[in-house]
Amino acid sequence: MSDILVYASAPARVNIIGEHSDYNDGLVLPTNTAIFTRVQAKRREDRVLKVRSSTLDDTQSFTLDDLRPNPTPTWIEYVKGVAAGLIGAGIKVRGAELIIESNIPLGAGLSSSASLELSVAKALLAVAGESIDAAELALLCQHAEHDYAGVHCGVMDQYSLACATYGSALLLDCRTLQYQQVQLPEDIAFFLTDSGARHSLTDGEYNSRAAECAAAVAILAPAVPGMKNLRDLSHELLAANKAALNAAQYRRCRHVVTEIQRVKDTFAALERRDLHKVGSMLSACHKSLRDDYAVSCVELDALVECADSCDLILGSRMVGAGFGGCVLAVCRKDDALAAAAHVQASYLAVSGSRPWQHLVEPTHPARVENE
Ligand code: GLA
Repeated sequence: MSDILVYASAPARVNIIGEHSDYNDGLVLPTNTAIFTRVQAKRREDRVLKVRSSTLDDTQSFTLDDLRPNPTPTWIEYVKGVAAGLIGAGIKVRGAELIIESNIPLGAGLSSSASLELSVAKALLAVAGESIDAAELALLCQHAEHDYAGVHCGVMDQYSLACATYGSALLLDCRTLQYQQVQLPEDIAFFLTDSGARHSLTDGEYNSRAAECAAAVAILAPAVPGMKNLRDLSHELLAANKAALNAAQYRRCRHVVTEIQRVKDTFAALERRDLHKVGSMLSACHKSLRDDYAVSCVELDALVECADSCDLILGSRMVGAGFGGCVLAVCRKDDALAAAAHVQASYLAVSGSRPWQHLVEPTHPARVENE
């Protein structure tokens, strides 16, 4: 085995709807698209993982016998966290040389971090000659991100990349971790346009939204029997307890409550191929993320306005954690190229730069390519 190269890959996650819902125990509806983190791995005879990111032009090494999080995380912490998680799960992780490359734009709301985690996990498992159930691997990678990158992310990205089958969206209940797949209609197209603005989940805004939600739960729980998380809040309960919350807390809660309903409605619309309804749900989601959850930014709002000005587009919204990154638009498949060209030209006119675009393409979940 020592001379055999392992090739593993993980796609990017495109969340159709259900934003900032996962860590509130809510529902999410992500799919994957065919841009990838790819890992090439070769076993070493010692206990060292030597990792090269050709995307970032950086090489780092660490020993598997002394794994501890670094308080100022960089990209290598994601790799370390995954190795530590696998060892914790009883896998005999071996020393290896890894070369990682990715064509997923970083910090663009497409879960480049989870894609790194899943592709590295698949590569290390293959080098060890072992395997782990997809759902268990998703949780292990989520914990790697919590413990080593310091981001208290939900479980959506890792579940999507580990479990969503070819061409499907995954309706995931983030409380029970039960999921079902829905095949995307043949005549629908989703495309991404990058605003060029950048966020980093490690810069604190993401964790602060999660903390605001936890604070709201602490205030509401005494008045709402059985309440453990914002998932347990209905429109009626929120309205009845509005006075207990400050204005920002009330809006955060309203986003989560309405977003869970939008996920249900979008799933039902996809099943009956009602593309107009899917579009209107995306647009309503953007307004809620902008006005209630306050995670949009000027560039994302401008891009959504560009999409709104195109008759071919049925709806659009910022995608991922927010504060920058991509806008997801939905249209009929036959209209996709014209719609994307419209958005690109309009955004070029307002921002002065030509944005990166990508047509969402069905793909496999994280896997070893040469098994
Ligand atoms: C990031 C996190 C996810 C999720 C989204 C927002 O991608 O990793 O867990 O919370 O933001 O929906």
